[in-house]
Amino acid sequence: MSENLSLAERADALEHRQFEEFERLYARSLLFNLAEGERSLEPRPKLGPGKHLSMGEDPRLLPMPDNPTLIDFFKLRFSPSQQHLLQSARLAQKNGLPEKMVLACLLHDIAVIGFIRSDHGYWGAQLLEPYVDEEVSWAIRMHQALRFYPDESVGYDYPELYIRMFGEGYRPDPYIEADYERAKNHKWYMSARMICVNDLYSWDADAKPLSIDEFEDVIGRHFKQPPEGLGNDNTPSSHMWRTLRRPSNAL
Ligand SMILES: [Fe+2]
Ligand SMILES: [Fe+2]
Repeated sequence: MSENLSLAERADALEHRQFEEFERLYARSLLFNLAEGERSLEPRPKLGPGKHLSMGEDPRLLPMPDNPTLIDFFKLRFSPSQQHLLQSARLAQKNGLPEKMVLACLLHDIAVIGFIRSDHGYWGAQLLEPYVDEEVSWAIRMHQALRFYPDESVGYDYPELYIRMFGEGYRPDPYIEADYERAKNHKWYMSARMICVNDLYSWDADAKPLSIDEFEDVIGRHFKQPPEGLGNDNTPSSHMWRTLRRPSNAL
């Protein structure tokens, strides 16, 4: 018996050693280099015996459960800047918004804190579309445009922050203007506008940090969490969740 056990232990140790000896190489996506102003896939990792491109879980990142939930992504992948989202959702609650809109505020910048900044409203809406009410994803998509345009009826001014961020006289691109025009007459205009009203443009660094756990009930009631886990569920955005989970997969 003890000999069997030690054989099994030895097999485990060998397997572990073989795994350790395999060196993972990480290939860069073009996008990471483009963001640095480089149109290039360099540096290319040098393949060789025992040197292979990473495919699968990335040991440099926090391990994720087999069936990850939205909350898992908040805790294990998204940036600590998620405080911006938590504070916006808390403000929406204080302002008495319906729960569905609290969720919209909680997720409005999910692309910025979890995925990609450019065109963040559109990416965020696409990522969330299979799991939230259509009004929520529409509002998230359209907050991208509405945030540049004031609405006196709800006391929303052009954000002071944007003058610092983009300079005086910045004018949004034509597609943003066109979406603003489309949104203005839409039945859900005010939902997208409410995201802007509850968007905290000034980061309160002294505020007590909130936890995504504080919104577990809101998420439970309004986010259709797939039992097999985000990324394993065969929706039009499953691949986006998988990429977030394993951003350095070679292909
Ligand atoms: Fe935003
Ligand atoms: Fe925001």
